[in-house]
Amino acid sequence: MLSRLIYHSENISGGLEGKMMGDLNKIMDASVRNNQRDGITGALLFDPIWFVQILEGEREAISATLRRIMPDPRHDAVTVMDCAPIESRLFGNWWMGLANMNVHSALLARHGLGPRLDPRKMSGAVTLALAVDVARAGLNRQVAAAA
Ligand SMILES: Cc1cc2nc3c(=O)[nH]c(=O)nc-3n(C[C@H](O)[C@H](O)[C@H](O)COP(=O)(O)O)c2cc1C
Repeated sequence: MLSRLIYHSENISGGLEGKMMGDLNKIMDASVRNNQRDGITGALLFDPIWFVQILEGEREAISATLRRIMPDPRHDAVTVMDCAPIESRLFGNWWMGLANMNVHSALLARHGLGPRLDPRKMSGAVTLALAVDVARAGLNRQVAAAA
C-alpha cells in the first residue's frame, strides 16, 4: 500500500556548521542510494536544531527505512507526526530532496509559522503543505557550501 510518513527529530550535529554539512552530505548519499533501491521518495527539511522528513513509498519499505533511520546517532528523539495511505506521490521527482529551512522564513510565515522551524507546533497537514511549497521553491541534492 502506497503510504506517506512524516516525522521530526532533533538534529544532533547542528551546533557545528562544518560537521552538519558533512553529516548531511553523507546522509543524502545513503538516502539517494537506498531510496532508489527501495522505491522511496521524499524530502528532508533541516535547520541547526531540527530535521523534518517525509517518506513516500510502499508501507513495508517506509517501515524498513524508518527502522534504519531511527537509531542513527546524527539525530535523536524521532517523533512520527503522521502516517497514512496515499493515492499518489507528492515528491516523486526526489529519491530525497534537501532543504535548509533557515532560508525559508517567508514560507514559514505563509503557513502561520516561524520565524524558525518548530515541528513540535506543526500538524502533519501543515508540515506537508509547507514541504510542498519548499519543494516548489527548489530542493537540493547536496547541502550547499553556504548552508
Ligand atoms: C535525518 C536523517 C534522515 C535520513 N534519511 C534516510 C533515508 O531517507 N534513506 C536512507 O536510506 N537513509 C537515511 N538516513 C541514513 C540512515 O540513518 C542510515 O545511516 C543509512 O540508511 C545506512 O545506509 P547504508 O546501510 O547503505 O550505509 C537518514 C539519516 C538521518 C539522520
